[in-house]
Amino acid sequence: MQGPWEFSETPLFYEAFCEKHDRYRSANSVLIRKGRLSASVSRVLDVGAGTGRTAEAALGRLGPEARVVCVEPSAAMRRAGKSRLIDSRIRWRTALPVRPASFDRILCGAAIWQMSPLAETLRRFAGLLREGGALCFNIPGLYLQEADAPGGGDDPHLLALPARVFRGRADGAISAYEPLTARLVEDALRAVGLRATAWSHRIRLKQEAYAAWLKIPVLTEHCWSGLSPQERARRIDGALGRVDRASWRWETWKGWTAWKLG
Ligand SMILES: C[S@@+](CC[C@H](N)C(=O)[O-])C[C@H]1O[C@@H](n2cnc3c(N)ncnc32)[C@H](O)[C@@H]1O
Repeated sequence: MQGPWEFSETPLFYEAFCEKHDRYRSANSVLIRKGRLSASVSRVLDVGAGTGRTAEAALGRLGPEARVVCVEPSAAMRRAGKSRLIDSRIRWRTALPVRPASFDRILCGAAIWQMSPLAETLRRFAGLLREGGALCFNIPGLYLQEADAPGGGDDPHLLALPARVFRGRADGAISAYEPLTARLVEDALRAVGLRATAWSHRIRLKQEAYAAWLKIPVLTEHCWSGLSPQERARRIDGALGRVDRASWRWETWKGWTAWKLG
């Protein structure tokens, strides 16, 4: 894998963000609940496993004999996950396994929009599921072209920080990927024969959390590729000093639990 997920600094900024702010923790806890993980689920595939935070949320609900296969193409993220998450039920891989019908659950936390084309990704996931198994994934509403509701403070949409960082350029986190909508996702799930239920939840995204998230180098690669991740972080801190720190906005996440029925 090439690109900013491969930078050695990326897992450091990712983990610094996760240690202090609960965006991914709450997204993963809802994902695991909606995926109905339990002690009777024995084979789990976690795709886009990152530093292991989705798998970590799953482990507490699984029995001692369960297996969780974490697929993470970035060596830097995988290395961080392996050293952070020590559990004999976990295995790591760089790519999807190929044996059909071998998983009870496929989890994809905060990652599926990066796996384009979506239709092909869902076709492969559907093939890897056992009958009676489910795929469970989530996507921020903004990545589905859905606006978030205003929160509070002088900057209730959190626009001041990206205006300073991106300076009129599009937000790279969204613009680099296949344009998706909830409708497109549901049509694609139906096309591969999965029966999906949609769900959503929302969090308060605070200005400081937004700044810490933007420090993950993936988010600024499109505009600051010539700068080191440390210099990018320094500039983001500078921008944070000039915006209202007390501001926050809502962030809605949408998700689907898609069952493979006989
Ligand atoms: C935002 S992180 C989410 C990590 C983890 N699931 C969590 O919730 O903390 C997205 C991860 O997806 C991985 N990723 C990106 N493209 C991918 C692809 N095509 N296949 C599998 N994983 C991919 C990245 O390397 C990164 O580790």
